[in-house]
Amino acid sequence: MFNNNQIFTAPLAGITDKPFRKILRKFAPDVSIVTEMISCHSLVGGHKNCIRNFDTYEDEGDIGAQIFGADPVLMGEAAKILKDAGAKWIDINMGCPVPKVATRAGAGAFLMRDHVLAGKIIESCAKSVQIPVSIKTRLGWDEAHKDWQDLVRVAALSGAAFATVHGRTRAQGYAGNSDLPPKPILPIPIIANGDLKTIDDMERVQKMGYDGAMIGRALLGQPWVVGEFCSTSEKPDNVGVVALEHLELILDYYGEKAGVPMFRKHAAWYSAGMPNSAQFRIKVNQITDATELKKIIKDFWSVN
Ligand SMILES: Cc1cc2nc3c(=O)[nH]c(=O)nc-3n(C[C@H](O)[C@H](O)[C@H](O)COP(=O)(O)O)c2cc1C
Repeated sequence: MFNNNQIFTAPLAGITDKPFRKILRKFAPDVSIVTEMISCHSLVGGHKNCIRNFDTYEDEGDIGAQIFGADPVLMGEAAKILKDAGAKWIDINMGCPVPKVATRAGAGAFLMRDHVLAGKIIESCAKSVQIPVSIKTRLGWDEAHKDWQDLVRVAALSGAAFATVHGRTRAQGYAGNSDLPPKPILPIPIIANGDLKTIDDMERVQKMGYDGAMIGRALLGQPWVVGEFCSTSEKPDNVGVVALEHLELILDYYGEKAGVPMFRKHAAWYSAGMPNSAQFRIKVNQITDATELKKIIKDFWSVN
């Protein structure tokens, strides 16, 4: 099995915010956690309406902060801001397929089509921080351009310490199955990502030669799963206790007005598959008051 520090939790925009990362950390004290992606423009501009621009990472253990953007200078500045805020490493998004990022901003997955620019961005980030820089990418732009190994070689030459690869192309989005090949010989360690949900999945990619495994959607509504992978926790007796703690962290971080709606998706994930979860979700989606929301959660899971 992988060592705990070879197990990564994936960046998930709108999900792996500071409250969720605190929950993950509680179950898995020594895994490597990655933040959701942060725009270099937003960070360098210090946009005040984006609360995560002001996160500090000192208390978050082994944490990588992920940035996206297409401008090497701004990306270098953004990396420095995150390093100064306490990030232990910087991850560069080179896989996001969303048109706003990959097409309009020329960032994320677009960098799989422009390895020269990708190299400049990595070099700029690596020069501006004295902590490791990594990239997170996909197999390639589409079926005809599965050239991730070339991008990894460019990344290594430009100063990247490791890379994560999601076993789908940009064109696939999230459709079909993640399909990683056995790990080829490459100059830097490669973390496997995509559809890894069980300990067996982790062992399979380890046997294929990968140097670590990154888990994303398998953690939605069940953040303790990462602790099961590294034997630091088990499924809690009462999931409602975790849901309530998560809600409290969200309320502390975002306040009641933004926090209550923010929690709705998590409530749906925590309750998925449980009896009467549909009615529970309907109620949760109508509530705007935090005290009422806590009561409904306590009733649903019979938390004292
Ligand atoms: C809702 C959502 C948000 C995501 N946000 C990011 C992100 O901010 N940065 C990134 O590199 N990948 C992002 N991804 C991709 C995941 O990190 C991961 O590569 C993908 O979900 C495959 O892994 P999984 O099957 O374990 O979920 C996101 C995926 C989803 C579903």
